[in-house]
Amino acid sequence: MKTTIPLPRPSPSRLMKRLDELGAVSSAEDGLTRLYLSEAHRRAAALVRGWMEQAGLETRIDDAGTVCGVLAGAPGNARRLLLGSHIDSVPRAGKFDGCLGVVAAIEAIDILASRGVRLPYAVEVLAFGDEEGVRFPVTLTGARAVAGTFSPASLAAVDADGITLERALRAFGCDPAGVALIGRQREDVFGYLELHIEQGPVLESEGLAVGVVTAISAAQRSMLEFAGKAGHAGTVPMRLRQDVFAALAELAVAIRAIALRQEGVVATIGMVDLPRGAVNVIPSQLRCSLDLRAASDALLAEASRAVAEAIAAASQAHGVGISQRVTYESPATTCAPGLQQAFAEAVARTGLAPRFLPSGAGHDGVALAARWPIGMLFVRCKGGVSHHPDEYVAAEDAQLATDILADTLTRLTG
Ligand code: HGY
Ligand code: MN
Ligand code: MN
Repeated sequence: MKTTIPLPRPSPSRLMKRLDELGAVSSAEDGLTRLYLSEAHRRAAALVRGWMEQAGLETRIDDAGTVCGVLAGAPGNARRLLLGSHIDSVPRAGKFDGCLGVVAAIEAIDILASRGVRLPYAVEVLAFGDEEGVRFPVTLTGARAVAGTFSPASLAAVDADGITLERALRAFGCDPAGVALIGRQREDVFGYLELHIEQGPVLESEGLAVGVVTAISAAQRSMLEFAGKAGHAGTVPMRLRQDVFAALAELAVAIRAIALRQEGVVATIGMVDLPRGAVNVIPSQLRCSLDLRAASDALLAEASRAVAEAIAAASQAHGVGISQRVTYESPATTCAPGLQQAFAEAVARTGLAPRFLPSGAGHDGVALAARWPIGMLFVRCKGGVSHHPDEYVAAEDAQLATDILADTLTRLTG
């Protein structure tokens, strides 16, 4: 393998120091939780905005709460490349998911500036605030707004505390009516690049630091509501019960079997809410989430159909009403071959063999791909662990990926 001379960089460990600093901005005592439009999001946005300004970017926070930093291109070339990722998190998250892509994008621009490299095109770094879609039953709000696909109906989405997206945006200092006006003109942008942790075990299992993303899985999120019949735990014979938990238990096993049947399909029941449960009462009400993903739209449609049949069967078997409300759907998204190639060539210039792989996780790029070509570079993460405090990326992998991103920027022409 060619030895790669460490590239001059503004300050070697700044990337990791910034990720530590950003990772400490949380609304929870126990670990990192930073939900969209929360106080923690506000503090994180201010921190990232300051780093963008240190890198010479002209900054603002748009009406979707996205921190935007623009570096003008050569005179007369208004064409723009979008870079970035998200700074919101799941509850008790790791500090690399999303944040690495934002901090690395700023770092890459600084590295080029420190080498006196002037890009021929403009660059806009975006720190989105709603990639996870954990607070409201909508997601990708910032990225959809930039892509011009935000639906104003989403403003009525309500969080667990009964606060609408509209009210939360206003409290954040945004104008909800402005979100639908944020869209960039199609002709003004020529692509979007995102650096992100793999959130899976493939790169580490093959001893690879980075990988080029080929596609992002199709995904469907829904909420299931179960309505059965309460009863005395001691007196109602088993065959006469309408027990919502028993219905969910049977359905969960059936859904798992559906996913196991088909390579590339995954299903997760991540939230279960059994209100007013009691040890000696047969439960009559329950709601749960369902996250269904597949490598292609056709596979997702087939799995979704099989889930619907399993829901009907469990409902029938237990005399329990089960309704399914789809809250989010995103198509399988291909990364543009030209941007995959640009990343692959930059990887090869470091002496590594480019590894192409799909993403089971969703990303902001899914929304931006509706309008522009997208490219993603994955970075190995320890044990493939993500959405967990143990999420970890080695400093040298993060630096290598940032150098590859910087090198890629110098090879694009806009
Ligand atoms: O759910 C996802 O795939 C992403 O982490 N939001
Ligand atoms: Mn992410
Ligand atoms: Mn995530």
